[in-house]
Amino acid sequence: MATCNNVKVLKGNVLYTPKFGELKVIKNGYLVVQDNKVVGVYENLPEEYKCSEVIDHGDKMIIPGFVDLHFHAPQLSNRGLGMDKELLPWLETYTFPEESKYSNLEYAEKAYKKVVKELWRYGTTRSVLFGTIHKDSTNILMDLLAKAGLGAYVGKVNMDRNSPDFYIEDTEKSLKDTEAWLEETHNKYDIVKPIVTPRFVPTCTSNLMKGLGDLAKKYNVPVQSHLSENQGEIAWVSELHPESSFYGEVYDNHGLFGQQPTIMAHCIHGNDAEIELMAKNNVYVAHSPHSNNNLSSGIAPIRKLVEKGVPVGLASDISGGHAISMTSIMAVSAQVSRLKWLEMNKEYAALSAPELLYLATKGGGGFFGKVGSFEEGYEFDALVIDDENLADLNPRTLEERLERYIYLGDDRNIIERYVAGKKVEEPNF
Ligand code: GUN
Ligand code: FE
Repeated sequence: MATCNNVKVLKGNVLYTPKFGELKVIKNGYLVVQDNKVVGVYENLPEEYKCSEVIDHGDKMIIPGFVDLHFHAPQLSNRGLGMDKELLPWLETYTFPEESKYSNLEYAEKAYKKVVKELWRYGTTRSVLFGTIHKDSTNILMDLLAKAGLGAYVGKVNMDRNSPDFYIEDTEKSLKDTEAWLEETHNKYDIVKPIVTPRFVPTCTSNLMKGLGDLAKKYNVPVQSHLSENQGEIAWVSELHPESSFYGEVYDNHGLFGQQPTIMAHCIHGNDAEIELMAKNNVYVAHSPHSNNNLSSGIAPIRKLVEKGVPVGLASDISGGHAISMTSIMAVSAQVSRLKWLEMNKEYAALSAPELLYLATKGGGGFFGKVGSFEEGYEFDALVIDDENLADLNPRTLEERLERYIYLGDDRNIIERYVAGKKVEEPNF
């Protein structure tokens, strides 16, 4: 029999998406949480939980916490700047110079405090982050996330070719530093974990990629990188790796494409063979539409990817993308999906509000395990949303309120955040 030990009950309008396209709405419902996990969502509070305190959120909405599958933490200062170039010159001109500053630990600490505060502010309860090539500053970022109580995978970046003198590693040192860092961090925190992070094929030699694939396996950690983002990048990869018939196969040949849980950012221009290999290897796509717009990269075929069985989540891709807010990313995902619908002869329908909520929560949350939903056994990550300022003179259904929150909402609508069962307050650093 259930007891009220470590139980909390939240009352309010509960919305979540057990499946892509399926929205559950429980008006004035009861969300029961025990320890760090969801017990269930009920229209009437079951007798056995009546001993527990009920936190009443009235007419507010309670939704799962947001998941950002791809965010370059050291690019925070570049947000909203340098959108005049495509990917490769953009990296050379703006990105590598900024990231190289993170050899300075004082700079890193100041900047990473801002990153963590911003994640908290926008209700991004779980994120998958790139750091820089510097192991010590990457450790600072992990410490700050753990202190703040936010969940994350964080990567020390690896790059040993086609990179500027001031921001490049020697292959052996890159692998040695990465192993030392994995050793230090893979069991250090509860919900902050390391992820192996070859930047992308153009900046990683075969020896480095192979070594990183081996380390991911040895320490049983996941992998993240970039894939099929830009036409110039794809042409360069086929010159560098004529032995592979498409870009994703290069990662696969080096043990980096689903041999461990894997996220690939962008995946805009992949051919059918690449999509098929992603589906077969359960490789996640981090869909980053603001970035893809800003850098003129293109529009990823999200519904096609989902229909082919590829797992998809949403991502800011700071600072290719300028917005951390997942509602902003949901809105632009909807907009570009309408352009994609036109571009692909109206074959693939645009994304709906319930589909967008799924992608922003359970879609990316799957990478963390049972995260991003209020189904039984899911880790309790949640946001309490006060959307009163978005109301008009007409009565609105909860489905309409969700849709409008996606388009008009911002951080001011988020009044409480929970991660893995704990209420998280604004970081005090
Ligand atoms: N490909 C390799 N590095 C990067 C990066 O920092 N941002 C984006 N958008 N694409 C990349
Ligand atoms: Fe990126």
